[in-house]
Amino acid sequence: MLQVRDISTYYGQICALDTVNLRVRPGEIVALIGANGAGKTTLLNTISGILPARHGEIIFEGKTLTRLGAETVVQFGVSHIPERRQVFGTLSVLDNLLLGAYHRRDKLVRDDIAEVFELFPILNKRQNQQAGTLSGGEQQMLAIARGMMSRPKLLMLDEPSVGLAPLIVREIMRIVADLRTRGTTILLVEQNAKAALGVADRGYVLENGRIVLEGTAQELMADEGVQKAYLGKGERLQLSRCRADTNLVCLENDGINSCVVCPHKDSK
Ligand SMILES: Nc1ncnc2c1ncn2[C@@H]1O[C@H](COP(=O)(O)OP(=O)(O)OP(=O)(O)O)[C@@H](O)[C@H]1O
Ligand SMILES: [Mg+2]
Repeated sequence: MLQVRDISTYYGQICALDTVNLRVRPGEIVALIGANGAGKTTLLNTISGILPARHGEIIFEGKTLTRLGAETVVQFGVSHIPERRQVFGTLSVLDNLLLGAYHRRDKLVRDDIAEVFELFPILNKRQNQQAGTLSGGEQQMLAIARGMMSRPKLLMLDEPSVGLAPLIVREIMRIVADLRTRGTTILLVEQNAKAALGVADRGYVLENGRIVLEGTAQELMADEGVQKAYLGKGERLQLSRCRADTNLVCLENDGINSCVVCPHKDSK
C-alpha cells in the first residue's frame, strides 16, 4: 500500500533521514520506533507532503506522492495525526471533527460523526465542550477521531501515547487495533516501543535518520538491542507504588524519576 523508497530529507545542510526504506501492506499495523531526534516525525512529515524529500520516492497505492504537497496527499487517503495532538483548543469537539472533513464533498459527514461517536463515546458526551479543556487522553482521542473524518485508507499516528497514563495508553492502543479491524491501515510512530509492538504486526527501528532494524513485532520484542534500548530490560527499572499523598506513580530508572498520575486508585 505504502512504499517509502530510499528517502532522504534535509533541514538545510542537516540530513534528518538517510536513505530510508519502509513498506506498509494493506490491513497492517506497522510500528516505527526510535528515540528522541531519530527522525520519526520527519518521516511522517515527508510522507504526508509537509516536508519535501531531497532524494527517493514515496508510492501510495501505485501512485507517486513525492512532491505532491499535503493537501493532495490527504485526498489520496493518507491521514496524519501530528505529535502533541494539536486539536483546535478554542473550538468545540464537534467543530474539530467537522474540520477533519473540510475537504470532503460527499454527504456522509454526519454519518461518519455518528460512527466516531460510537467509537469514542466520551467525545459524544463532550461534543459541545471546548477541545482545549479536554484531558490529555480525550484530546488524543479527538485527534484520532478528527483524522478518521477524512476517511483515510492509511492513518499515520505520531506518538499518540506521549504524556498519557498507562491505562489510557492501553485504551488508545485498543482503539488503534479497533480501527484496523474496521479497515484502516496504520503506521504508528512511538517511543513507547512496548505499547507499539504490543499492537503492531511488524516494526522498524529508526536511529539517527536510518532504519537499523526491521521485523515482525515478535522478532523486535525478542531482539536484545531493542530490549535494552527501548523496552527497559537489563536496566534498573522499577515501578513504585502510587504515592497516596500526590496520587502519582513514579518510574525509577537509574536514579531518574518520571511520574504520571495514578492510573487507578486500587494500585495505591
Ligand atoms: N525544523 C527543523 N530544523 C532543523 N532541524 C530539525 C527540524 N526539525 C527536526 N530537526 C532535527 O531533525 C532530527 C529529527 O527530528 P524529528 O523531530 O524527526 O525526530 P523524532 O524522532 O520525531 O523525535 P521525537 O521523538 O523527539 O519527536 C533531529 O536531530 C532534529 O533536531
Ligand atoms: Mg517526533
